[in-house]
This record gives sequence, C-alpha cells and structure tokens, in this order.
Amino acid sequence: MDELSQLEAQVRERAAGVKTQPELDALYGEFLGRRSGRLSKLMAGLSKLPKEQRAEFGRRANEMKLAIESAISAAQARLDDAGLEAVLARRYDVTFPPRAPHTGSLHVLRQTLNEVVDFFRARGFAVVTGPEVETEFYNFEALNIPADHPAREAMDTFYLPGGTLLRAHTSPMQMRTMQRYAPPIAVLVPGKAYRRDATDARHAFMFHQIEGLQIDRGVTFGHLKGFAGDLCRQLFGRSRRTRFRPSYFPFTEPSAEVDVSCGVCDGAGCRTCGGSGWLEMGGAGMVHPNVLRTAGYDAETFTGWAWGLGLERIALVRHGIDDIRLFTENDPTFLEQFA
Ligand code: PHE
Repeated sequence: MDELSQLEAQVRERAAGVKTQPELDALYGEFLGRRSGRLSKLMAGLSKLPKEQRAEFGRRANEMKLAIESAISAAQARLDDAGLEAVLARRYDVTFPPRAPHTGSLHVLRQTLNEVVDFFRARGFAVVTGPEVETEFYNFEALNIPADHPAREAMDTFYLPGGTLLRAHTSPMQMRTMQRYAPPIAVLVPGKAYRRDATDARHAFMFHQIEGLQIDRGVTFGHLKGFAGDLCRQLFGRSRRTRFRPSYFPFTEPSAEVDVSCGVCDGAGCRTCGGSGWLEMGGAGMVHPNVLRTAGYDAETFTGWAWGLGLERIALVRHGIDDIRLFTENDPTFLEQFA
C-alpha cells in the first residue's frame, strides 16, 4: 500500500518537470507500461498478499492508475499548449496591432456637395433633383434660348433619339420646379451636366452643377450677392472675397460670373488663378421675366435669382487639385487623401 502511494507522488512530481514529448512517453512507459511498468509489477505481487487484503489492494491500485493517467495527460496538455504557442510565435506576432478594416469613404465631390447642401438647408432651401435626359424644351426654350440662338452652340451636348438630349446644365430644373410649385420657392439642385467638350485638365464631357433658385416678392441682386459671399466664406475661409463680373445668359438679366479670390495669391495674380487673382465659380443672375412668364409666374410681382455653380470647381479650389480628370479616374491614392 505504501509503495502505491509513493508511486503516485513520484509520477506527479516528474510529470510536472517533463519538457519534451519523448520524456513524457518514457515516463508513461516506466509507470504504466504493460509488462515492465512499475504499476504492473506491483500488481503482479497481488497473489502473494493474504486473501483479505487483496480486494483493498486492487481498489487502491485502480485509483493509482487513474491518478497516474491524469497526471500524465495534464503534462500532455501542457506540452501541446507550449507546442502551439511556439508555432504561433514562429509564424505570427500575435501582439502586432491589427490592420484596420478597409471601410470606404465618401468621394471628395460628395463631401463638397454635402457642405453646400448643409449651407442651404440651414437657410431654408429644399434640395430637389431632376432628369439627366432632358427635352430640348427644358434645356433651351424654357430658358429663353430659341432654336436659332447662338447660346445653343456654347452649350452643345449629346443628342439622343426621340428629341431628347443629355442636359447641358442643371438650369432645366428652374422651369420644372416653377411649373410644379407656386412662388415663393427656394431650391438647390445638385446634379450631373453634359457637354460635347474634349477632355483635358479643365474640361470633361460630364461634370456637376449646383443650381440655386430663389423666387419671392422683393428678391434682389443683393440676396444673390449675400448668399454667394456667405457660401464662399463658409467653403473657403473667412478671408475670401467674391466678385461679380458682368456676363450674359439668355435666362437671366442682369447676368454675372461669380468669382472667388484666389486662395494662393489673395488677388495679386499667380499660376493657380492664371494671373487674374480670381477663380470662377459659375454663372448667375436675376431670373429673366420671360422665364417667369413661361412658368406662369406673375413677373410683375415676383423676382428671383439663379445660379449654376460648378461642383468640381469648388472642390478643385478647396483642395488645390489641378486636374478634374482625377475625380473620375478612381485612383485610390488620390481618393484616399480625402477619406
Ligand atoms: N446654366 C448656366 C451654365 O451652365 C449657369 C447659370 C445658371 C447662369 C443659373 C445663370 C443662372 O453655364
């Protein structure tokens, strides 16, 4: 009986110190080996014991066998864990910071648009969108541009079968909105526009405009200048100035080009602004009475301003980008700068 108890204590101690698989295998053989194992040898002495002690001895021996097995399997588990950790340590540094998951981001044009939209939403404007495939009526006639008008050439676009075309500007939505809603109205119309232009750093056959339109009693050119100035300061910074240059559009009178002072030279003239000190943001003006009348509005009572800002232009100026082709090339190196 004493020998049995000693056996267990020895196995526990030695199993705890085992460092390699061959060592553990040898330990197993030494104690539990079928023929020459120490437990088997003790069991062989069973027959020499007095009869009345045999049952008790057998019971204890079985207990010992279980205890030895559990000590050995605990050692086996310890060896297995150590082995796995060694493999992991060789192949992976499990303490290395993980790579952040790749989650996309808004396109720089969308980010820019969202800022313009936020500005006008905060001032009570509704955001509406319209069709990119337009009729000649909405793209031209409704905007006071008859069939033989030279302004058509400046806005040459892509013609589709059935008398439709890809809209050359977002201005067709002026008429669509006026026909749908009675005055007063204040809307912002972001969207794509198309021109039959050869592609280069400053021209694209597709670009984005943000049409603004406000019509009410007593709306003046001052409102237009106020909104333009506030928007430019919001987008480009408090020190930026706006300038209105006389221009011509058949659907506005008077008409103007809206410029913002160059952020690089502050009006002195540099390479970014082509020496002029100013950067062009888009066309604008007071809605022509003919347009109001076509919409069925009372041109004696209501006045309004409209503009078509270039979204790409705003993003170029804000971020110092020098080629509009970058917006559509889908080059992640470019796009991720704005993520
Ligand atoms: N639609 C004009 C263009 O694309 C811009 C514009 C819009 C001018 C509204 C005046 C008023 O050039």
